[in-house]
Amino acid sequence: MIDQRLKSVVRDVYDFPQPGIVFKDITPILKDPALCKAIVDAFEARLQADTIDVVAGIESRGFLFGLMLAQRLGKPFVPIRKQGKLPYRTVAQSYALEYGEATIEVHEDAFNAGARILIHDDLLATGGTVAATSQLVQRLGGLVAGYAFIISLDFLKGKERLADYSTQVVSLAA
Ligand code: PRP
Ligand code: HPA
Repeated sequence: MIDQRLKSVVRDVYDFPQPGIVFKDITPILKDPALCKAIVDAFEARLQADTIDVVAGIESRGFLFGLMLAQRLGKPFVPIRKQGKLPYRTVAQSYALEYGEATIEVHEDAFNAGARILIHDDLLATGGTVAATSQLVQRLGGLVAGYAFIISLDFLKGKERLADYSTQVVSLAA
């Protein structure tokens, strides 16, 4: 099963980026091309592709599989970036992280109003990042079609923050 493969490969790093955080290091996944393919296969199998127009991936680790997934589904990819990185006109949203604060942005012409957006990130922790992303999507007239994560830290209850928005929430490992 993909969840067991992920659990055996993803590494816990204690006290990164600050004391008290047990950080899930996904970089070992990237050294295993067969596992990378299995992740995209699992997303494809569990998502309803006919309800998705665009895949949005969140900087930076959400870019790694977000573009691969968009390619597999044959959909456009939209990068959601940290403040000050996107060159064209943007809309911005600030939010609290498990360990700090951040602001994310998207280009104002990233997708058409009414587009159904799948939000992808490597990991769901408190849900602050994807909640801010879903607000951005809606401010641009998009509809949140669902969420796809490689890992969900269920003890942080991030999924509870997605309940209002989502039609589908896929996470491959807890
Ligand atoms: C991490 C992770 C998610 C977010 C999850 O990103 O990749 O984007 O935090 O946390 P949340 O559910 O509590 O909001 P980080 O901001 O560390 O950026 P990075 O991907 O550039 O390392
Ligand atoms: N929180 C947020 N992002 C992360 C974590 C975490 O504990 N581990 C890996 N990415």
